[in-house]
This record gives sequence, structure tokens and C-alpha cells, in this order.
Amino acid sequence: MSLLRVPVLAILVSMALCQYYDYDYQPVSMLGPSGPNCNQECECPINFPSAMYCDNRKLKFVPIVPSGIKYLYLQNNKIEEIKAGVFDNVTAELRWLVLDNNQLTNAKIAKGTIDKLTGLEKLFFSYNNLTEPVIPPSKALDELKIMHNKLSKFPSGLLNDKENLTSINLQHNELTSDAISGAFKGPKKLLSLDVSHNKLKKLPAGVPSSLEILYADYNEIEGVGAGYLNKLPSLQYLRISHNKIADGGIPAGVFNVTSLIELDLSFNKLQAIPEINEQLEQLYLQANEINKFDLSSFCKFMGPVNYSRLKHLRLDANLITQHSMPPDTSNCLRVASDIMFE
Ligand SMILES: *[C@@H]1O[C@H](CO)[C@@H](O)[C@H](O)[C@H]1NC(C)=O
Ligand SMILES: *[C@@H]1O[C@H](CO)[C@@H](O)[C@H](O)[C@H]1NC(C)=O
Ligand SMILES: *[C@@H]1O[C@H](CO)[C@@H](O)[C@H](O)[C@H]1NC(C)=O
Ligand SMILES: *[C@@H]1O[C@H](CO)[C@@H](O)[C@H](O)[C@H]1NC(C)=O
Ligand SMILES: *[C@@H]1O[C@H](CO)[C@@H](O)[C@H](O)[C@H]1NC(C)=O
Repeated sequence: MSLLRVPVLAILVSMALCQYYDYDYQPVSMLGPSGPNCNQECECPINFPSAMYCDNRKLKFVPIVPSGIKYLYLQNNKIEEIKAGVFDNVTAELRWLVLDNNQLTNAKIAKGTIDKLTGLEKLFFSYNNLTEPVIPPSKALDELKIMHNKLSKFPSGLLNDKENLTSINLQHNELTSDAISGAFKGPKKLLSLDVSHNKLKKLPAGVPSSLEILYADYNEIEGVGAGYLNKLPSLQYLRISHNKIADGGIPAGVFNVTSLIELDLSFNKLQAIPEINEQLEQLYLQANEINKFDLSSFCKFMGPVNYSRLKHLRLDANLITQHSMPPDTSNCLRVASDIMFE
């Protein structure tokens, strides 16, 4: 077995950055002359007149948005307030609203602003001071990002009619398990939910069966309910690193489901390697208290087509070494090219 180290951290960090900067952003100086129907404080490129760029200019308020604008960029300002009427001429047409990195609080978002937007597809609200979510009435919403705010609740039912919502990112807030109970039931096409860096004591309940990605790293989770994954037949990527999971919090076979490709349980309190399915490809268990290498966690039965598809296994920062692996390991872990012990 080779001990090739994958720079996992570097990959994670760059992924996080991509998530934050994945809307098309061009520096204003490259945009050329402004289109005719633009707020004076902003730029609307003549070859892309439905976009209004008002980012990076120390704005304190959201400027009045003229009709025709579908994509509105307001990130990196000092916006504290959204006054009534600013969106009145674009209530049906505005599709993207980017408000990242401002100073918005719920109290200063006037009625008749975001609550009138009926065509919004993307709402990016990260790095503000929201204590509760602000959700437009648009049924077309497909992406919602409210990372790095102070959300302490997410009332149930708010997303009920969001039939096209596929991605929700709420990392770095103050959400508790009680505060999100029922919150994500509505969106039947949800693919990705990120609730990392909150105060959850368990994985979110009542998430739609369409879910493929669930990230709940850095919470206070102590276990996974028996059958939790059986209700999520499409789930491929599950991350619950940096929580408080001990062996007792993991019912037998709870992770033994065929859909999972990646399971991250690193930085918890596990003493044994949980049973996983033959189909799992990435398993992260570093920084636990694992003290034995039991092959039956990976393979209960070995045969021509019965072996573990695991490619990467991290066991570093545990209480075992390479010598803890039994001699017949390679009959089970046939494709594991990367098993790390230190
Ligand atoms: C909305 O559009 C109408 C007609 O073009 C214009 O008279 C009005 O000033 C606009 N209102 C705002 C808030 O932009
Ligand atoms: C937003 O939160 C930051 C950090 O807690 C604080 O310094 C700032 O004053 C807050 N701004 C507003 C407008 O509440
Ligand atoms: C949902 O998305 C589909 C496919 O993009 C689109 O045809 C449909 O109009 C959307 N639904 C709503 C309510 O916007
Ligand atoms: C996982 O479940 C399958 C089907 O129930 C079973 O055959 C297999 O032995 C289990 N794997 C492990 C490692 O427990
Ligand atoms: C053997 O592998 C096949 C194909 O992956 C699978 O359907 C079957 O459940 C496995 N048998 C056991 C006992 O794990």
C-alpha cells in the first residue's frame, strides 16, 4: 500500500473559495461603457445590459434598480439597509441578487423589497448579519446561500413551494437542531445541503429523498439515527467531521448503504471503524480514537465480485499503525491505492 498523501486540505479550501466566488465577476474597469438604463452609481455593460454591477463601491443602501435588470451585483459594500420600492420595477424580472459581504440585518430590510421578487433564481446573502432567513416568494429559486451570518432559526415551511431549489448553503451560522426541524422538507429536488459550522446536535431531520450531498461538519452531532440514510437513497457525499460521534452513536450498519461514495467521519471520537458498504470509495477517519483494524468493517464476505471499492482511506492520528492490518487485507481492499496511517 502506498502512503501517498493527498493534499485534502488544499482541495477543501479551494472548493470553499470556489463556492463563494462562483458567480461571474468581472472587475468594473473591464466592462466598457455603461448601458442606457442604469443607476448612476453602478455599471451596466453595453453588451450585457440586463446586468447591473454595483459591487465594491462603499454603498450604504441598495440603489434603485431600473427595469430591464435581471442580474444585480451588490457584493462587497457597506449596505445596511434595503429601502421600500428599490425593486419595484424589477419584481418579476430580477433573477440573480448578490448581496454577499455587506452589513444587512433583518430589521432593515423593508417590506415590499425581497418579499416581492417573484422570479428570483439565485439569492446570495453570505457575510451579512441576518438572524433569520430572508426568502423571496419566487417559485423559481434554485440556489440559496446564506453563509457566515447569525441565523439562529430557519422556520419550517419557508421553502415549501420552492420546487426548483437544488442547493442550500447555510454554513457558519448559529442554527440548532430544533431551529431547523422541518425547514428543508419542501424542496423536492434538493441536491445539496450544507449546514456545516452550526450548533446541530443531530443530522437535519426531514430532508428530501433527492439529496445527493449533505455536509454537516463542525457541529455538535453525537450520533446518526438508525435508518437515517435509508431515507436518502441518492445520498453520495456525507461529511460529519469535527463532531462528537462515538461508537455508541452509530447503530450497526447505518452507513452500509449502496449510494454513498464518500464518507467523512474525521475528527470524532470513534474507537472502531464503522461498517461500510462495498461501494464506498472515500473514507476519512483521521483524528479519531480507532484502536483496531477489523476487516469485517469493509468486507463481511469476499469473493470474485465481492470486495471493497474503497480507494482512499485515512486513518492517521488514531491508535493504530500499518501493522494493525491483517494479512488478507488486500483480498478485501483490492483497489485501495491510498491508505494513510500517519
Ligand atoms: C419605474 O419605471 C417607471 C416607468 O419606466 C418610472 O417612471 C419609475 O420612475 C420607475 N421607478 C423606479 C423605482 O425605478
Ligand atoms: C454586523 O456584525 C459585525 C460582527 O459581529 C459587527 O461588527 C457589525 O457592527 C454588525 N453590523 C450591523 C450593521 O449590525
Ligand atoms: C423549474 O425549472 C424548469 C427547468 O429549468 C423550468 O422549466 C420551470 O419553469 C421552473 N419552475 C419554475 C416555477 O420556475
Ligand atoms: C452491508 O449490507 C449488505 C447487505 O445487507 C451485507 O451483505 C454486507 O455484509 C454488509 N456489509 C458490512 C461491511 O457489514
Ligand atoms: C456480492 O456483490 C454483489 C455485487 O456487488 C452484491 O449484489 C451482493 O450483495 C454481494 N454479496 C454479499 C454477501 O455481500
